Amino acid sequence: MPGKEEKWLVLAAWPYVHGAPHLGNLIGSVLSADIAARFLRMRGAQVVFVSGSDMHGTPIEVEALKRGVKPEEFAEQNHEYIKALFERWEISFDNYSKTESETHKRFVREFYTRVYENGFVFEDTVQLYYCERDKMFLPDRFIVGTCPYCGYEKAYGDQCENCGRLLEPTLLINPRCAICGSPPVLRTTKHWFFDLPKLQGDLEKYIESNKQLPPNARNMSLQILRDGLKPRALTRDNKWGIPAPFPGAEGKTIYVWMEAVLGYISATIEYFEKRGEPDRWKDFWLDPATKSVYFIGKDNIPFHTLILPALLLASKGGYVLPWTVASTEYLLFRGLKFSKSKRIGIWADEALEVFPVDYWRFALVALRPEVRDTNFTWEEFQRIINNDLNDNIGNFVHRVLVLAQRKFGGEVPEPRSPRGEHFREEIKRRYEQVTQSMESFRFKEALQEILMLSSSGNSLLNNERPWELPADEASGVVFVALHAVKAIAIMLHPIIPSSSQRMWELLGYQDRISEHSWEEALSPVPPGQKLPEPKPLFTKISDEDIKRAVERIEELRAQG
Ligand code: MF3
Ligand code: ZN
Repeated sequence: MPGKEEKWLVLAAWPYVHGAPHLGNLIGSVLSADIAARFLRMRGAQVVFVSGSDMHGTPIEVEALKRGVKPEEFAEQNHEYIKALFERWEISFDNYSKTESETHKRFVREFYTRVYENGFVFEDTVQLYYCERDKMFLPDRFIVGTCPYCGYEKAYGDQCENCGRLLEPTLLINPRCAICGSPPVLRTTKHWFFDLPKLQGDLEKYIESNKQLPPNARNMSLQILRDGLKPRALTRDNKWGIPAPFPGAEGKTIYVWMEAVLGYISATIEYFEKRGEPDRWKDFWLDPATKSVYFIGKDNIPFHTLILPALLLASKGGYVLPWTVASTEYLLFRGLKFSKSKRIGIWADEALEVFPVDYWRFALVALRPEVRDTNFTWEEFQRIINNDLNDNIGNFVHRVLVLAQRKFGGEVPEPRSPRGEHFREEIKRRYEQVTQSMESFRFKEALQEILMLSSSGNSLLNNERPWELPADEASGVVFVALHAVKAIAIMLHPIIPSSSQRMWELLGYQDRISEHSWEEALSPVPPGQKLPEPKPLFTKISDEDIKRAVERIEELRAQG
């Protein structure tokens, strides 16, 4: 059980800065990580929660080029936008950094200098496509051509999206530059490689002995290990990136993925630097007892379970290896993958224009793809908000508060009868289940348990009918029901922080719920506590509201 002495690094995959994240990105990384961080803090653990913007690499460079702005300006603007957006989503980062931060760039260069000195980097010449018009080496995704297998004319250098086969750029028939359309030429260039095969044995041990890894991450990692690890290119010929520190590598930058994964450490360093405790990061990263959890989409698994641990080992810096990763399946939009170009899905900024943040946080957790890909539909969103948030939770809370107001003059009653006493067991049982699900980072399951507590609370009221009972008889029921409301407020805090704070205040508390412990869910609201005038917490969403939301989003998109 986490206690004060427990140290946790809560880490969320760093979003690219092409545009705002969509709802699937959010629930996959940043939002889930926020829920974990809030939960662990309430349990009394020492928590550092960081992420940042993944700013470098060709896609950003090319996008900036297209708009006629400098990559650094384009990336910085988007970073600021995304950072502010996460604040509106009430993500409780200790530090939201960026790969352009000075601390990150310095850390990455020093880190790779050590990896190099330790003998894990070698150089090799390779032949890569080069666009003479754009004057750049083209990454696989930036070469299009005809698929040699199916004849599809818009296959990418790494994969044909028509037949699904994996390709090499040199296999494409009639290759063209994706930026300008002209045919690229093969050029010899030198690159630096990370000697991953040297760490095969260590990584096998790491994966096999790591019991926390969820099955999807474990199986994928074992499969890759069975196939045998291959060296990975560390450098690129782009300009927009961190200059590689290897002798002779002038003009090369570090491949984005290979530096962004180090952001977890550099953002922790930066956080403590800002607090004026420049060495404190070591308490976390260099202590083998620290637990780290990475919230990532499933396509990011091998980078976190193999590449990152390999880099940490190769640096011989004594960094703690990932304790576990929490990777969800995909959130789909009406059965399809989110796609900006095809305008399929909803984006994090659009969402907040049409419904309150807690409605989204609640619905996304209810739809969290923990076991399988899950569909977002507006109908489902409406059902979750109306049935689960309003009719179940909102209704229970309001009924109890109104009862306390009418029957006991707005004061928590002393329980004068054993009526309702059995319900304490129900609170305890649900609390234990919610705790267990939260500890395993299964937030959807936790929410389902909270909903069951609330619906048993509604049944308790329906069965006991305290409004018809004499005050002494009713007091036991109202007392335990208020306790259930308190437990619900505490357990919902990581999921819907603002609404849980309002619930807390309706129970007569005047301080911050986030400063209370998770375990306090087990103690009732003290008799005699004054309760303010009850107000409903949520409102239902009508068909008309949904229609208006959809139209509003269309409108926003039309405005660009
Ligand atoms: N930007 C990557 C993505 O969105 C994730 C990077 S995670 C990190 O897929 F480890 F590199 F930080
Ligand atoms: Zn070109």
